Amino acid sequence: MADSWNVKKYDSDFGFVPEYGEGLFNLIEAKEGKLADLGCGTGMLTKRFSDAGFDVVGVDSSEEFISLASQRYPGLKFVVSDISDFHPEDKFDIVFSNAVFHWIDRTRQPFLLSCIAGMLKTGGELVCEFGGFGNNAKIHAHLSEAFERRNLHYKMPFFFPTIGEYVSMLEKYGFMVRYANLFDRPTPLSRIDLAEWIDMFIKRPFDGVLPDDKDKIISDVLSASKKDLFCGGQWILDYVRLRIRAVKLL
Ligand code: BEZ
Repeated sequence: MADSWNVKKYDSDFGFVPEYGEGLFNLIEAKEGKLADLGCGTGMLTKRFSDAGFDVVGVDSSEEFISLASQRYPGLKFVVSDISDFHPEDKFDIVFSNAVFHWIDRTRQPFLLSCIAGMLKTGGELVCEFGGFGNNAKIHAHLSEAFERRNLHYKMPFFFPTIGEYVSMLEKYGFMVRYANLFDRPTPLSRIDLAEWIDMFIKRPFDGVLPDDKDKIISDVLSASKKDLFCGGQWILDYVRLRIRAVKLL
């Protein structure tokens, strides 16, 4: 993740991101062993794995996140690294990742999958979830329209693949996919509104956009999204998740 993070705000108001990752735990078949949590952020799930008896390392490209996670969980191991360029000496039984792979450009995905294949023991498992095809499609469509209205181009900053695309990539890197599911997960925002969500997650498209234009674009997106995504006094976002369990063959 090259993007910079407002770590304090993420930690206080975006706890729903790691909390949803709890649902992935049951997909892991190993009951013990070495586990790498790729894109661990604040380390909340890394700690959860450690409590469950796994020998964990949390990895994140953000020094601020790793600093926070290390202070909060001093007994655990955390490493600052780009997860698509991570080559530890140790081999792992499990590679886990929640809500991170969509941040890696399509062109970097082969590097990511090659790293993961290199980290895993034969028979080791990759269990991951991230934004899948159609994730936040309404928000991105409204962003694109609002940019175009000002003669600006909105470049989609995320990689949201279909099952077919990701499974065939995994197979190229020696994985056998045992489970893949693309599903809607309507996501209510409780502590933040859509403007704060956009400010936290949509960074690169606004590079070079004047602050006044950015404010107007966000205001347009809020108005356009209200009909579909605001219900009962709350924003409920159109998340679509891709959840995968794959085993390294050789
Ligand atoms: C997600 O699917 O978790 C996500 C995708 C893009 C921005 C923020 C969150």
